[in-house]
Amino acid sequence: MKAWHDLVGAVGIAAALASAQAATLTISCTSVGVDFETCKRHSAQWAARTGHTVKVFTLPNSSTDMLSLLRQMFAARSSGLDVLNIDVVWPGVFKDHLLDLKPYSKGAEKDHFPAIVANNTVAGKLLAMPNMADAGMLYYRKDLLRKYGLQPPTTWQELHAAARKIQDGERAAGAADFHGFVFQGKAYEGLSCNALEWISSFGGQIVDAGGQVTVNSPATVQALKMAASWPGHIAPKGVLNYAEEDARGVFQNGKAAFMRNWPYAWSLSQGADSAVKGKVGVAPLPRGGSEGRHAATLGGWQWAVSKYSKHPEAAADLVMYLSSREIQKERAVKHSFNPTMPELYKDKEVLAANPFMAEMYEVMLNAVPRPSAVTGARYPEVSQALWNTAHDVLSGRLGAEDGARRLEGRLKRIRRTRW
Ligand code: GLC
Repeated sequence: MKAWHDLVGAVGIAAALASAQAATLTISCTSVGVDFETCKRHSAQWAARTGHTVKVFTLPNSSTDMLSLLRQMFAARSSGLDVLNIDVVWPGVFKDHLLDLKPYSKGAEKDHFPAIVANNTVAGKLLAMPNMADAGMLYYRKDLLRKYGLQPPTTWQELHAAARKIQDGERAAGAADFHGFVFQGKAYEGLSCNALEWISSFGGQIVDAGGQVTVNSPATVQALKMAASWPGHIAPKGVLNYAEEDARGVFQNGKAAFMRNWPYAWSLSQGADSAVKGKVGVAPLPRGGSEGRHAATLGGWQWAVSKYSKHPEAAADLVMYLSSREIQKERAVKHSFNPTMPELYKDKEVLAANPFMAEMYEVMLNAVPRPSAVTGARYPEVSQALWNTAHDVLSGRLGAEDGARRLEGRLKRIRRTRW
């Protein structure tokens, strides 16, 4: 009798302990392409393995909108969010609100690109684990290049000419809504990424490694002039309001010859419901003339834990799971998200699913970072000044020379004495 009683007691205590240890976490998932679906599925897998519960919070599509939402949550020191997906340009912005993951990572960060780990490390603290890497690339219609006797363009000048030729031809054949080139021209972070690519492709910079504002250069003027010549000519006027998903929608519906986008658009363009399945090629973004370089902006997302989380240990464990090799490989094979582990760029299954992934390794190593490390917490203002200038130039409200000069003035004002 006593033994039975003891057993019941022991079971009761074990259950009570388990429920005390089982945490309910909230994770914020981004929602571009299939990002939300995979974030939710992988969080649920982790919950099933550990006995914890995960609630999913959807973030808006635009990195800029996400930033303001997260800033509000952090300003309120809200414990409502445990794990979050942060943009590669945010570690400096959120440095005071994120948990140092070093005590939890057991060195796992060593398997990821050192440059990304360095980006995520602020004042010796590992503020986030790499989730995915991104780099801008050029998508093109293989079938249309063939039809018009063209090669994939290697300079922006060639892109302009090819886009024009295909657009004219397709329109003459009855596709009135066909466009040569689509990209991200809306006033938000994505436009800063595009503008940095244009400027870098002509050899220019926004802010140099030492923090000097170097944007007012002939390279910037050339790049802005070039971009201003696109809307209404080879790009729809509506591109001024396009983010990633808008550009992808047009391209995937077969209504554009070229698109600038991130790797995630690859697997979706090959999906059963894609009008361009089997017709898409990818190439490095064009150079700014024969002297210029192929420049891709470095993008990407990282998993972080809020300092205000009531369950730091469980949250860090979820982050380690989400950034693990297993998940990175699955996301690469099924959804063409670029891994942050160099080793996966040699993986047979990853390469079979994404023919461009082997070249992506080089592109990744040479990608141009936005000046977020040097400008730290001021980066969002820097980027806003860049995208506003680029938007004004694209819309024809501001000339390229005035744009470069105005941007220089704004950046110097933001910096004042130092970043
Ligand atoms: C992609 C990139 C991210 C960038 C954003 C801009 O999500 O990974 O770094 O800020 O696009 O729209």
